[in-house]
Amino acid sequence: MLHGGLYVVFATCVALAAARGSLEGDRILETLNSIDSRYSTDVFEDARLDVPDLIRKYRYPVEVHNVTTQDGYILQMHRIPHGRDANNVPNRKKPVVFIMHGLLSSSADFVIMGPGSALAYILAEEGFDVWMGNARGNYYSRRHTSLNPDALLSTRYWRFSWDEIGNIDLPTMIDYALDVSGEERLHYVGHSQGTTAFFVMGSMQPAYNQKVISMHALAPVAYMANNRNLLLRVLASYSNNIESIASLIGIGEFMPNSVVFTWAGQALSRNKVIFQPICSNILFLIGGWNEDQHNSTMMPAIFGHTPAGASVRQLAHYGQGISDRGFRRYDQGSRLSNYRTYGSFRPPSYDLSKVTTPVFLHYSDSDPLAHVNDVDRLFRELGRPIGKFRIPLRSFSHLDFIYAINAKELLYDRVINLIKAMDANAFDEA
Ligand SMILES: *[C@@H]1O[C@H](CO)[C@@H](O)[C@H](O)[C@H]1NC(C)=O
Ligand SMILES: *[C@@H]1O[C@H](CO)[C@@H](O)[C@H](O)[C@H]1NC(C)=O
Repeated sequence: MLHGGLYVVFATCVALAAARGSLEGDRILETLNSIDSRYSTDVFEDARLDVPDLIRKYRYPVEVHNVTTQDGYILQMHRIPHGRDANNVPNRKKPVVFIMHGLLSSSADFVIMGPGSALAYILAEEGFDVWMGNARGNYYSRRHTSLNPDALLSTRYWRFSWDEIGNIDLPTMIDYALDVSGEERLHYVGHSQGTTAFFVMGSMQPAYNQKVISMHALAPVAYMANNRNLLLRVLASYSNNIESIASLIGIGEFMPNSVVFTWAGQALSRNKVIFQPICSNILFLIGGWNEDQHNSTMMPAIFGHTPAGASVRQLAHYGQGISDRGFRRYDQGSRLSNYRTYGSFRPPSYDLSKVTTPVFLHYSDSDPLAHVNDVDRLFRELGRPIGKFRIPLRSFSHLDFIYAINAKELLYDRVINLIKAMDANAFDEA
């Protein structure tokens, strides 16, 4: 069964990578001059372009920043410093909004749906200086000063979960964005794992709560006791040995590196019929599908950018939260190694009361990963929860926070109003 679980997971990735490969081709930017509609001019081109080129294609300003963490991971951030149609004067000081993607995703999440629909563009038009983070191990941050993510016999590069993303990556990127922009504090918007990592940071590095004026959690994930996702539940039953088994066979990355690719690829071709439907949908297999709000025309663009990579440990850590029903640091797999790492046999819980940034939770009825009861518990335990907003559409699902046709009307407009209100408030206080 364990084997079966792993097998499904890796086979799924392979099919996706294959889909991505078939979209590869010569880059064309011919349409550069005739673009200002709300929608993509060419979804296949959007699938091929990386985030900076995609932003340039739609004639928005973009900056690329590399920043190295204290433990050697080289992270790439993408910045849209101002708007295209409105608030488009360069070098004028603006409030900073830092946006952080979810599991298996990247900064692409906030631009794929295009101007007028995707969060990063909307924020830029509304007068914000927009910074998008990329967690260690994803497509844009898959580098290290000394470790090799593709090393055949070592998974050392991949020994991290969202604990490290919250404890190290977020503080590093936030400090960098504040430094370059010259601001003292910023607003934070996170989706899914982008919220989990924030809660890790706020509880373990309390000084950072002061650097964030307001935090907006889209599909907040901390407690997962009521998680209804099948794939994660399968992983949960084996979460304590899945990583050690994966690393025994040299796998640290959840996305296929060439080894996994070949291995699972062979397996896949023997079982094509069974696995293909699952494979073409891993993202939606985890995040849920919403017929009403997913624009199927845009799927190739989404699949060109996602999944963007993650470690096996990130998934295992979520699996532990599902089986343990708590919100704890990573279980090292044995009482002894937990004791060595944490000074206790069980991994310590994250103390959510230490998260003293004003937090707004945005959640929905049909989100398989952020169940209403788990969101309620999170809200009760946070140090300074301010608002809890249910999306006024029953079918709204986990990925709709990023990809929904009506995300702007149902969600982003409210988030932006809250940010503006909190920003004015912060200004008054200063
Ligand atoms: C779906 O996306 C396509 C391509 O961007 C666009 O032309 C179409 O209007 C979108 N449909 C809806 C309902 O938003
Ligand atoms: C960031 O790193 C990438 C990948 O090595 C490199 O191509 C790019 O020039 C770097 N950008 C900056 C601004 O340092």
